[in-house]
Amino acid sequence: MAYQMFFISTIACMAMLVSVAYATDPTQLQDFCVATNDPNNAVFVNGLFCKNPMDATPEDFFFKGLDIPATTNNRLGSNVTLVSPMNLAGLNTLGISVARLDFAPYGLISPHTHPRATEVFTVLDGTIYVGFVTSNQANGGNKLFAKVLNKGDVFVFPQGLIHFQLNIGKTPAVAFSGLSSQNPGVVTVSNAVFGSQPPISVDVLTKAFQLDAGVIKYLQSKFSMGS
Ligand SMILES: *[C@@H]1O[C@H](CO)[C@@H](O)[C@H](O)[C@H]1NC(C)=O
Repeated sequence: MAYQMFFISTIACMAMLVSVAYATDPTQLQDFCVATNDPNNAVFVNGLFCKNPMDATPEDFFFKGLDIPATTNNRLGSNVTLVSPMNLAGLNTLGISVARLDFAPYGLISPHTHPRATEVFTVLDGTIYVGFVTSNQANGGNKLFAKVLNKGDVFVFPQGLIHFQLNIGKTPAVAFSGLSSQNPGVVTVSNAVFGSQPPISVDVLTKAFQLDAGVIKYLQSKFSMGS
């Protein structure tokens, strides 16, 4: 009996350890795993298909052009350039990615979450108001942690929490972010809630946001197709 209890608790502990280990990207099981679009010539899978390591070249670990500002003449006045295994194949399985964030004057990266990554945000130029909101707390509230950042300042957005970045300066701003996943994912709150295809029922959204159906339909028309 005692032995059985020990066995069951050991299994339970191991199950918890395994679930902890899988809470982030899988740890690589080799030095690297350069992603390949050619599965016929691939040797194994851990994330995307891996190129045969014997065929890897320095170019597989290289990306050029993050010094170039992206265009920000869009509705929000911002643009995110993500470097991931899609454009730097050697990042595959390494659990990390990087992004350049360009802001027009008063440009916004609207409230969003990264379901799979914590983000470390560094301002290279400009003055940016940033913040994140906690998950629902025991008292039912959600706490905002926000700050105005200047050149050289660093801020961290914990994994999965809603956050935003607004250029509050009269000049363009630029920041770089490190992300703790090769595929952080993005959920833009306004687009996901009001712009899904097919749309979420107006009945759901009127009750959830305590708004008239006409206001919900207006918001749905604004955000449909992720516009
Ligand atoms: C982001 O910048 C790139 C490069 O300048 C451009 O091709 C792309 O259309 C821009 N995206 C948006 C949403 O403005």
